[in-house]
Amino acid sequence: MVITSAPGKLILLGEHAVVFGEPAIAVAIDLRLRCIASPSVEFTINGKVIDDAYRSYIQASMDKVWRGDPVSIRTFSDLHSGSGMGSSAAVSVATLAALMQLRGMFREPRIARLGFEVESEVQGRASPIDTSVSTHGQGIFVDSELGEDHLWSMTMDKRTWHIHHLRVPEMTIVVGYTGIHAPTGPLVDMVKDKVSENRWAREAIDRIGEISLEGMSALRNDDLSSLGELMNEDHSLLSKLGVSCPELDSLVKVARPLSYGAKLTGAGGGGSMIALTDDPDAVSEAIREKGGEPIIVHTGVQGVTVE
Ligand code: PMV
Repeated sequence: MVITSAPGKLILLGEHAVVFGEPAIAVAIDLRLRCIASPSVEFTINGKVIDDAYRSYIQASMDKVWRGDPVSIRTFSDLHSGSGMGSSAAVSVATLAALMQLRGMFREPRIARLGFEVESEVQGRASPIDTSVSTHGQGIFVDSELGEDHLWSMTMDKRTWHIHHLRVPEMTIVVGYTGIHAPTGPLVDMVKDKVSENRWAREAIDRIGEISLEGMSALRNDDLSSLGELMNEDHSLLSKLGVSCPELDSLVKVARPLSYGAKLTGAGGGGSMIALTDDPDAVSEAIREKGGEPIIVHTGVQGVTVE
């Protein structure tokens, strides 16, 4: 039997712009998904529960790496699925790692690559951010150019992403989950259309890319005040691009006076917002009062591990 776990993630800066090759920053968080893989008399996934949200990711992961005797896979998650906290990446990464470990072939770059393929196949569209940060842990910086602390690179549909290690200071972040599930694909398509039709939208994407680069300097200097301001500006640009929603805007608004900065995270349209703060209890209370579900998370965590 093998037990693995992989962390969830938050995109700190650069979502949507990363689809156009702009830089982005993601951090792993202390909410994990555990996977138990064991030899079995028949193939089972979570005891064969048909409506399991993770089933197709697990199945696609098995198809990638498993040829042979039946195995049973069970998953246990701290993460809400469809909340923008990377649960689908974590389930893919943890399952791949468990099956590869059963074969004695646990390799991080391969797990990250296959995880990206699984997410792309199941979702139809993905960037490698989520699966790379869930594999590596800590933080990652994604760029179209190769830089220092390079981990691995991924190419798909003529697009290449270079993934770099990013040291992140210990941060407390309050996630405000709207409870609204919004699929990523249509939001990405909408932004694409806007960018091809409007110069202002292209400029917004360019500015988001610059914000991610400025965010890298802020993180290097442990300068949370500057990072918070950049998060605020990023949220304004994402709103302008049409990927926020009234629920996200209202959670961002109440969190701001108590935070360094606050913004939506991930695809938007619902999902979650994040607030970087020294007062997580006050921010949580404010988010709850506005109807969101607050979740306090911390950064600086390990990537995929065999437990
Ligand atoms: O909400 P998530 O975790 O699916 O994040 C989507 C991030 C986008 O930049 C909008 C799309 C992508 O694949 O990078």
